[in-house]
Amino acid sequence: MSEAKVIDHYGHNDLREKFAAALAAAGLADKRLTPADLAPLDQFHTRGMAATIELGEALAITPGASVIDIGSGLGGPSRYLATKFDCTVKGIDLSPTFVNAATYLAERAGLASKVSYDCASALSLPYPDQSFDIAWTQHVAMNIADRAGLYGEVHRVLKPGGRFAIYDVVQGTGGPLHFPCPWSRTPETSFVVTPEAMRSALEAAGFKVTLWNDNTQVAVAWFAEQQKARAAAPAGPPPVLGLHVAMGADFGTFSGNLGRNLKEGRAGIIQAIVERS
Ligand SMILES: C[S@@+](CC[C@H](N)C(=O)[O-])C[C@H]1O[C@@H](n2cnc3c(N)ncnc32)[C@H](O)[C@@H]1O
Repeated sequence: MSEAKVIDHYGHNDLREKFAAALAAAGLADKRLTPADLAPLDQFHTRGMAATIELGEALAITPGASVIDIGSGLGGPSRYLATKFDCTVKGIDLSPTFVNAATYLAERAGLASKVSYDCASALSLPYPDQSFDIAWTQHVAMNIADRAGLYGEVHRVLKPGGRFAIYDVVQGTGGPLHFPCPWSRTPETSFVVTPEAMRSALEAAGFKVTLWNDNTQVAVAWFAEQQKARAAAPAGPPPVLGLHVAMGADFGTFSGNLGRNLKEGRAGIIQAIVERS
């Protein structure tokens, strides 16, 4: 079953211990952590915190709003939104490892009253109809084959007029993807679709598109900058904080392949906001 394989991809380590050690090594053992402190570790998508800030600004969430973060991962985006907009965020994620790690980091950030995480599938959200004002997802739909099911569930749990912010990888026209990628080591659990298919699936689920940006070239430039900075850095071990702490030493290869897929037009990135009918 593909969901079990997706869970395997994101790992079964005790990330609480690993994160505590990495944060201590970064000199953050006793600090009340901010989203900026944690950004290298917990923003698991292209362009990291900058992409989250940009999408948040486009959304302009009202204080007190209830937000659901679908595929919340290590929780960086949810903690940023709660801090910046004074909203409450419920993160849901398939990976128990990531849900535990996100809960730990929320405690370390003093945000446990504003953000919380449940282990669940995006295809079967454990909440009543019309529970949330805002839905949010970044770099998750590529792991989900049933796009109609995903968008149908988001539509169900949003209130009428609620907005859904999306930042996802799409299929390009340049040929098949190089693997491993950050979301999948093989094509077996990778379900990218074209931007057109993504937009049609959203509209068929009852959403009206209010923002639709192709962010691919911005992402290509960001990967090139990253590569340049790495080449200029003195040889030595990787920085103590990074996505390799959660994903392992080969994360650099995963990330490099995403950069190459974007550059070669095999993948693209869409930033969108849609509104529930
Ligand atoms: C690349 S990470 C992105 C995490 C987070 N959105 C971020 O941008 O920092 C993808 C996340 O999607 C989650 N995921 C994949 N398929 C899922 C599903 N069917 N239901 C819920 N979460 C899912 C994974 O467990 C993983 O945490």
